[in-house]
Amino acid sequence: MKKIFNTQSEKDTVRLGKAMGGKLKKGSIICLQGELGSGKTHFTKGIASGLGVEDIVSSPTFTIMNEYSGRLPLYHFDVYRIDADEFLDIGLDEYLYGDGVSVVEWADRLDGAVKGALWADITQTGENSRKFAFKWDRSAYDFLNEVKI
Ligand SMILES: Nc1ncnc2c1ncn2[C@@H]1O[C@H](COP(=O)(O)OP(=O)(O)OP(=O)(O)O)[C@@H](O)[C@H]1O
Ligand SMILES: [Mg+2]
Repeated sequence: MKKIFNTQSEKDTVRLGKAMGGKLKKGSIICLQGELGSGKTHFTKGIASGLGVEDIVSSPTFTIMNEYSGRLPLYHFDVYRIDADEFLDIGLDEYLYGDGVSVVEWADRLDGAVKGALWADITQTGENSRKFAFKWDRSAYDFLNEVKI
């Protein structure tokens, strides 16, 4: 299935993430692709807030993955610096199919190594506007059809 959202500000993007974070089930994987500064981390901050995470979410660029506790555990990945082989060698895929929610920035770099994800392709459409194009084929993500921002 597919759905597009357009956000007009950073706040809007956080709100979209928050609305989704309230609905995500365990084992959900959200793969984000989009250029530098497209809003992947801000969207993730919203998801964290919707999951009830109270810690401040920051980019895990140097640590590859940060773990937060909320209604469900949140695993926030930034795989900019690694490739699919390294990801699998380190065993990071075990988090994806566990009992939390995973959000992966730069997921396109993993080259098909992630299965059953909700994909979001984020594009900058103006200084403060972004387009979120979602794609999925698991009913676990059908709630997106009801999400409004
Ligand atoms: N509609 C919008 N949604 C999200 N961010 C926006 C929006 N409009 C402007 N911005 C700005 O764009 C930047 C997005 O930064 P963010 O760190 O979330 O991007 P990113 O995709 O994670 O970047 P990186 O590739 O470096 O990880 C912020 O400075 C934010 O204020
Ligand atoms: Mg980021």
